[in-house]
Amino acid sequence: MAQATEKTSFRPIRWVDGGVELIDQTLLPLDEVWLRFDDYRDVAAAVREMKIRGAPAIGVAGAYALALAAAETAGRADADFMSRLERAGREIAAARPTAVNLAWAVDRMLDVARRKVSGNDTVDAVVGELIEEAKRIQDEDEAANVRMGEFGAVLLPEGGSILTHCNTGALATGGFGTALGVIRTAWSQGRIAHVYATETRPFMQGARLTAWELVRAKIDSTLIPDSAAGQLMRRGKVHAVILGADRIAANGDVANKIGTYSLAVLARQHGIPFYVAAPTSTIDLSLPSGDDIPIEERPAEEVTHIYGRRIVPEGIGVLNTAFDVTPHELVTAIVTENGVAQGPYTISLKNATEGTLG
Ligand code: MRU
Repeated sequence: MAQATEKTSFRPIRWVDGGVELIDQTLLPLDEVWLRFDDYRDVAAAVREMKIRGAPAIGVAGAYALALAAAETAGRADADFMSRLERAGREIAAARPTAVNLAWAVDRMLDVARRKVSGNDTVDAVVGELIEEAKRIQDEDEAANVRMGEFGAVLLPEGGSILTHCNTGALATGGFGTALGVIRTAWSQGRIAHVYATETRPFMQGARLTAWELVRAKIDSTLIPDSAAGQLMRRGKVHAVILGADRIAANGDVANKIGTYSLAVLARQHGIPFYVAAPTSTIDLSLPSGDDIPIEERPAEEVTHIYGRRIVPEGIGVLNTAFDVTPHELVTAIVTENGVAQGPYTISLKNATEGTLG
């Protein structure tokens, strides 16, 4: 199985000398600025403000934030320590509600802390183990993405043009990328001919971040306004759609960046396969359907302003729903690190999470 190479393994976040460093994604691609955080509250704020974003990446950020929260506490690793850590965990997980990877990573970290505390370890020992666990979460995520790249690349039509939405690259993950990782792998195999990236209004993850990654990877690509996708498909220019997910319910309904549902409907109308690539940490078997997924509403300013400048008249109402839900019937297959899940998803996704996908 391939490893992420130096060329492909750009990481948007890292643990350095007892603190968290991350590249500020609100400034890309104009400025490449790395920020440093030593307080978990500031990491939670960076997640909320989308200085770091993308479901798996905010999971990694949440894990490092919890390690910082533990390091803040002096004294004994007792029940009081644990309840303070749980409080910090709730605060971190609340930063963004839709992507389940954040709550998943916080829960995984709290489980490790609980185990260590019940073993009467010192705070130093607990903190040390939490830092290692957070690094493991990041390493595992990157490795999962590389595996997804291999499982997903073979699904993409040879010589085809692929459309993707939002940013699902190295920036959105522990490293390498989910859907963009699949695209990266397929491109390096010479399998696909072209990539169309949507701008992804209003936060412009496609225009600012995916375009940045595609150019750096030297992948032949074109940026389109979100509203151009239908006409492009009608003219036969798109041969597959692949994008990521923030949470996948047990029945295969997919919550992802707003606009995903419209693309799925368009793909169905034009007979184009519609693929989702996501690690199993994005699958939430506790929710029977996408109707149960909490959908984040973001500040109106993301719609009304561009680079701090108001572009719409005062007085207009604004709706900034950050994610939508695509019903499973429109999803051709879901690529995970354990293989490719197809309908009926209630069975295949359970198998994917258990590592028993055929
Ligand atoms: O609001 P964002 O930028 O965090 O939304 C990101 C997405 O919707 C991605 O498609 C999703 O997190 C998958 S990232 C590998």
